[in-house]
Amino acid sequence: MRVAAGLLLAAGCTDALRGLPPAWHARPAPMMTVMDAAFVPAALEPSETALLPEWFEQWGFASPGPPQKKGGGKKGAKGKGKGKPRPAAKAGGFGAGGGGAAGDAAKPFVCSSPPEEILTVVRARREEGTELSAEELANWGAAARRTIEELLPRTGAVLLRNLPMRSPEAFGHFWKGCLLAPPALEEGSYLSLGGTSRTKMSGIDLATNVPPEFLLLNHNELCYNPRTVERIALYCVQDAPVGGESTLARNRDLMKTLPDEVPRFLAEHGGILYAREFYDARRPPVLVPGAPPPAATGSWQEKCGLPLDAERAQAEEFFLAMGFDASQIEWDESGSLRVTNQHPGFVKDPESGEDVWWNIVHTGSIKTADGTPIPKKLVAEVQRSAWDHTYAFKLRPGDWLMLDNMRVQHGRLPFFDHERQRRCLLTVYTTPRCAITE
Ligand SMILES: [Fe+2]
Repeated sequence: MRVAAGLLLAAGCTDALRGLPPAWHARPAPMMTVMDAAFVPAALEPSETALLPEWFEQWGFASPGPPQKKGGGKKGAKGKGKGKPRPAAKAGGFGAGGGGAAGDAAKPFVCSSPPEEILTVVRARREEGTELSAEELANWGAAARRTIEELLPRTGAVLLRNLPMRSPEAFGHFWKGCLLAPPALEEGSYLSLGGTSRTKMSGIDLATNVPPEFLLLNHNELCYNPRTVERIALYCVQDAPVGGESTLARNRDLMKTLPDEVPRFLAEHGGILYAREFYDARRPPVLVPGAPPPAATGSWQEKCGLPLDAERAQAEEFFLAMGFDASQIEWDESGSLRVTNQHPGFVKDPESGEDVWWNIVHTGSIKTADGTPIPKKLVAEVQRSAWDHTYAFKLRPGDWLMLDNMRVQHGRLPFFDHERQRRCLLTVYTTPRCAITE
């Protein structure tokens, strides 16, 4: 006991002791680190999650599995199958590649749970059912923060289990303690490419507005903005009765099976142009039956949190604060606003120093910097090959998944929930930073 308390005090962590139950203080304590004081190493139950063919068919995504055509610039089998079993054969209609070994045609494609070299897992040592005060929750946040600082550099992904919060309000207290633990972290905020913002609960973002039935492909958060966030964390208040597994993949792994022609295409066309358009809320676009939908999906007043009669300069101020420069902010005669920025599509992996895939080409909705659409065939390869390195597992209530957004992608499988068990996943972000690495 004295050892644990002594280490905490030596580290300036007296606040952590106040929030933890008496039984925790009294536990036997051999040689411990600060992380060990509140959390112990843990492991995920190994699991395999089936990927249903209709998820891909419904939304037009390329399915996992072998490439549709052989000899298309593949780098070989490096990393192939790593981390999860590949199907011996495709299920009926599952992917255009088809084929595979005979005799196992009904086996669906599955994602396995991440091994420890991909995801570090720890478990909070605490008594169940104890009501904690705001201060105690903040103390847990500070303890979690110290654990994350120690573990996150190893894999870029840390799962803290068995945390005591079961409401967005309680998580808010925990999060405050996490942010303020020295050295204090700067909180990031979500500013999407489109016109809408995220739903909040008790001032904290829900993980996504994407409908439950939609397969949310892996992505790096806010990688399309000039300023991104270094970390993103997902807290599970309530899981879905069916589905909703979180997915993750390391960016550096994505390069291993991505056909050479994809990065080459981006490089030849100067990288990526990210563009978003916003209409004037006083003159919303008129939908014409049969005509393509307008490019703008929301108003600049809504995006910037401004009143209807706001001046253009106020909107410009908003985007300048996001990291855009004045030349990237353009108005047209109808009062619509177009905001653009360019990105090479790669960042430096902090471990290897190599350029790694970091963009949203998988959405199929962006163009290169010189305005060339990215061929559908290449987009399909990006979508397909990403599954070679994707892991899936289910976050349970009390789980907090912290990711290095510059190293690890995240996504979500479709789910079903209902009024009696509504899925509730909260998202927070830290450390706003430039999206372009040197
Ligand atoms: Fe996300």
